[in-house]
Amino acid sequence: MKSKIYITGSSGFIGFHTAKKLLDKGLKVHGYDSMNNYYDVKLKKARLNILTKYKNFSFTKGMLENKKLLNKSILKFSPSIIIHLAAQAGVRYSIEKPEEYLNSNILGSFNILNIAHKIKVKHLIIGSSSSVYGANKKFPFKETDKTDHQLSFYAATKKSAESIAHSYSSLWGIPITILRFFTVYGPWGRPDMAYFKFTKNILNGKKIDVYNKGKMYRDYTYIDDIVSGIIKLISKAPSLNKKISIKNDSISPAAPFRILNIGNTKKIYLLDFIKSLEIELKKKIKKKYLPMQKGDVHSTLSDSSLLKKIAGYNPKTDYNIGIKKFVNWYMDYYK
Ligand SMILES: NC(=O)c1ccc[n+]([C@@H]2O[C@H](COP(=O)([O-])OP(=O)(O)OC[C@H]3O[C@@H](n4cnc5c(N)ncnc54)[C@H](O)[C@@H]3O)[C@@H](O)[C@H]2O)c1
Repeated sequence: MKSKIYITGSSGFIGFHTAKKLLDKGLKVHGYDSMNNYYDVKLKKARLNILTKYKNFSFTKGMLENKKLLNKSILKFSPSIIIHLAAQAGVRYSIEKPEEYLNSNILGSFNILNIAHKIKVKHLIIGSSSSVYGANKKFPFKETDKTDHQLSFYAATKKSAESIAHSYSSLWGIPITILRFFTVYGPWGRPDMAYFKFTKNILNGKKIDVYNKGKMYRDYTYIDDIVSGIIKLISKAPSLNKKISIKNDSISPAAPFRILNIGNTKKIYLLDFIKSLEIELKKKIKKKYLPMQKGDVHSTLSDSSLLKKIAGYNPKTDYNIGIKKFVNWYMDYYK
């Protein structure tokens, strides 16, 4: 694999880890990120500082909405692969600031599609979310399930970007894979996510907010498993010409376009996840039980067998081990 890889959201949690792994393999990576202040910019800078130590890494600070700058940096770098991970994430904030989501996730992704078409990219991988399954009640979620009932504006913008990408793939033959992530956690994680906030509050002796009395589960997926799945997928661009037929494939009948789940495929109840944090932090946690959060999905569980068939994806990290690694990083980073 000698590809030049362009990663949007490279100072973000998943983008940073993906870029670092590719650089470790000796590949050339260009990162693009606005470094916005949705959460602690120092953390984004610290991730970026690690990447800039690699001679094969270059970076442009910019917004996806800045089409001129985005196009200029992509034309100059001339990647064969684009991994589009920049997005306005978070369910709760999308209630407060829906426009940020409209701009970053829909307009921003549209700008990526246009330039990907222009440079005839070999594979465009777009980060999406398990939240597009919304109110679905059939578990585990499969890529071929209907996704018509999003519960948050965030999820609606991710689903819209998927649809827009399909139309572009069909019109212009752009090979696109949509990757739906399931609750990604781990070192260098996102401070707006529950496990990060829990850790911070527990260490400060504060109560943690537990929604729906903890009666919900998530398919928590460790970052290293996610990165290994993304990297395995790079060379597996969907194609309409291939005669290989895969059982239960989600490939479009009209475009080189496929949707794939990427999860740990295990049901972890919120209270078990918290218990594991309690053990790792050696502290008794004080909980404040609250009703279900507006916009939040009840539970998530992925069927990731398609990604396994296509790219040999094989998530290995048990949540107890993953939490231990996260806590070790957290204690070291914030010491
Ligand atoms: N982490 C998860 O559990 C999870 C779950 C489902 C989906 N996702 C998706 O995965 C992708 C990466 O998420 P993450 O967890 O790394 O989030 P993150 O917030 O850590 O990273 C996103 C990065 O994109 C940048 N960004 C945001 N809007 C931008 C814009 N308009 N222009 C340029 N840069 C912009 C941010 O500065 C940030 O560094 C996103 O598409 C997200 O929706 C993540």
